[in-house]
Amino acid sequence: MKQVPETLSEEILAKMGAPQKGDAPIIEPNDLVEADGFIFGFPTRFGMMPAQFNAFLDATGGLWQAQKLAGKPAGIFYSTGSQGGGQETTVLTAITQLVHHGLIFVPIGYTFGAGMFEMEKLKGGSPYVAGTFAGDGSKQPTELELEQAFHQGKYIATVTKKLKGSAPTQIFVTSYTRSTSRLLTNVEGNSGLIAEKNCAPLMLRLAWHSAGTYDNFSKTGGPFGTMTLKAEQAHVANTGIDIALRLLEPIKEQFPILSYADFHQLAGVVAVEVTGGPDVPFHPGRMEKPEPPVEGRLPDPTKRSNHLRDVFEKQMGLSDKAIVALSGAHTLGGCHKERSGYEGPWTVDPLVFV
Ligand code: HEM
Repeated sequence: MKQVPETLSEEILAKMGAPQKGDAPIIEPNDLVEADGFIFGFPTRFGMMPAQFNAFLDATGGLWQAQKLAGKPAGIFYSTGSQGGGQETTVLTAITQLVHHGLIFVPIGYTFGAGMFEMEKLKGGSPYVAGTFAGDGSKQPTELELEQAFHQGKYIATVTKKLKGSAPTQIFVTSYTRSTSRLLTNVEGNSGLIAEKNCAPLMLRLAWHSAGTYDNFSKTGGPFGTMTLKAEQAHVANTGIDIALRLLEPIKEQFPILSYADFHQLAGVVAVEVTGGPDVPFHPGRMEKPEPPVEGRLPDPTKRSNHLRDVFEKQMGLSDKAIVALSGAHTLGGCHKERSGYEGPWTVDPLVFV
């Protein structure tokens, strides 16, 4: 159990008469990535979650961008001050954040049984989630409310276990890509290929040379694993790419479920991250194509800007802005006489993304 950071000063909390906080550790956004499922709990403010919890969720933008929480189950529980204080609106308004993260909201329905129909005594909660009434702050949850909360905990834990065990393909593949990234980056004592062999630039070039053959008109080419074919490796622009493929093969063998199409793009994503670049959202699911693209779709370094526009804009359907942004990849690596005819790094530190 963890608590979100406080946003108010001690002085204001004292003036409000806020109760003493528990000693659960303070949560950081990245802690969420480790969990298989969640139950978020908070007091209601004006029928919605309080600002402190909202501020914490606002800080999870990086996780949202990479959809790192997508597919994980989540429930909610809360306390309201009074009976009309938001027992149902609190959860309804909190679902929006869950939805943006791709979290799966898990309601308890009427699985709590007879306790759901209590009419004699005061009882918080609903088919959405467990809840209680705090009154002026001194009222404690009743036995029935605690039982319902306990039921919710078990219920969501069961759903979490089931989802983890027999997850849909997307979640399955995502967990494979996470494990693959670990092998590529050097976390948890694994080989950390990209970091160890200093081959991030070459991996990024592999990802780009796979994707950069895409032709928007014929819908052919693109990042579909065809670089494994000798015919595509033999394209003049791809001289040296076979080194990247050889380095990656031992890792690929460990993840037969991943297509080469995904794997080569993932290597590019990890290359950017491991050299200090931004987190790049990765979406698995590419199929392998059997035929290589025709030769000559990648940009020719001897030509001028009009040629770049032909490749990036006319052929690939991108923009001027994309040309500039993508060319920023040359912050990594450099040229090798035996591969391109040119020689030397682009920047002073070819292994740092600046
Ligand atoms: C704008 C058109 C581009 C041209 C004309 C071009 C050309 C080149 C050339 C001639 C090399 C040297 C290869 C060698 O000798 O090893 C190179 C390296 C590289 N390119 Fe590009 N490139 C372009 C765009 C891109 C893009 C869009 C990316 C990635 C998004 C990229 C990523 C790289 C990387 C990372 C290297 C370094 C490889 C290494 O050090 O092994 N390039 N590029």
